[in-house]
Amino acid sequence: MSTDQKPGELLTDRQQRELDYHREYAESQKGKLLNEPFNFDVVSQGPRRWWNQYWAMFTYLLDKDLTNKNVLVIGCGFGGDAMNLAKAGARVKAFDLSPESIEIARQLSEKENLDIEFKEMVAEELDYPNNHFDIVVARDILHHVEIQQTFDEILRVSKPGGILCFNEVYSHSILRRIRNSKFIDKWLYPKMISLVYGHDKPYITEDEERLTEKEVEQLVSLMSRIEEKKYFNAFVTRVIPDNFPIISKLDQVVLRILSPLASLLGSRVLIGGVIK
Ligand SMILES: C[S@@+](CC[C@H](N)C(=O)[O-])C[C@H]1O[C@@H](n2cnc3c(N)ncnc32)[C@H](O)[C@@H]1O
Repeated sequence: MSTDQKPGELLTDRQQRELDYHREYAESQKGKLLNEPFNFDVVSQGPRRWWNQYWAMFTYLLDKDLTNKNVLVIGCGFGGDAMNLAKAGARVKAFDLSPESIEIARQLSEKENLDIEFKEMVAEELDYPNNHFDIVVARDILHHVEIQQTFDEILRVSKPGGILCFNEVYSHSILRRIRNSKFIDKWLYPKMISLVYGHDKPYITEDEERLTEKEVEQLVSLMSRIEEKKYFNAFVTRVIPDNFPIISKLDQVVLRILSPLASLLGSRVLIGGVIK
């Protein structure tokens, strides 16, 4: 345990490292985020971008009729998902470990007149009541937390028959072994960072590890009915930047054609379904 004590909690060493990283990250993003208008395209009318994991997640959620549903956003970062869900009519609560991120999320949502309850909290220990949420949304967060403790909390605060929606970075363990080979790790990957991410310092924390097929099975085991399970980004974001819609479409078409291999090839997984 570290000594950075917050009201009612003592952060673990991992949480402390995450907090330190995201504090700095929030500071670096603050000016840009607060000065740009927020983009609600993903919840507005119009054609859907089926090839894009973020749009596919909202297509799934918008199908639920969110009006007045109690929705929880886990590890909400700067509040983008929370704002989109509130815009779509949901009653949204959201939390994050980083007070700096929460402050940005509050300011952004106030600017847009959205009534969202943002709190500073850790995913492993939630202070929401039992059986409270109709829908729980977790995007790019499970690989930052203690997964079993977080699942236990998600199950506790969700209503029976509620909806869970996860959208997470992923790598099959076979591909992970290849990725971690000396040649790729020490030689190829460092050369590709700038090409794929557009700069030489990717947004990756010290402890994060992509979900594996075993953890995806764990996610699936929380649900009595799977309504959505899609893999995205075989080449895009791995070796090609996510800047060219035509390439992203092709990438998604390849994954659909090779669907039995999608769980091997994909680098992101979207899962939605009804909680057990
Ligand atoms: C990759 S960001 C994703 C943020 C947001 N879900 C999104 O997709 O924009 C990961 C977030 O997890 C938060 N985080 C890391 N560990 C956490 C924990 N134990 N409990 C709650 N939030 C945590 C970080 O502060 C950061 O905002």
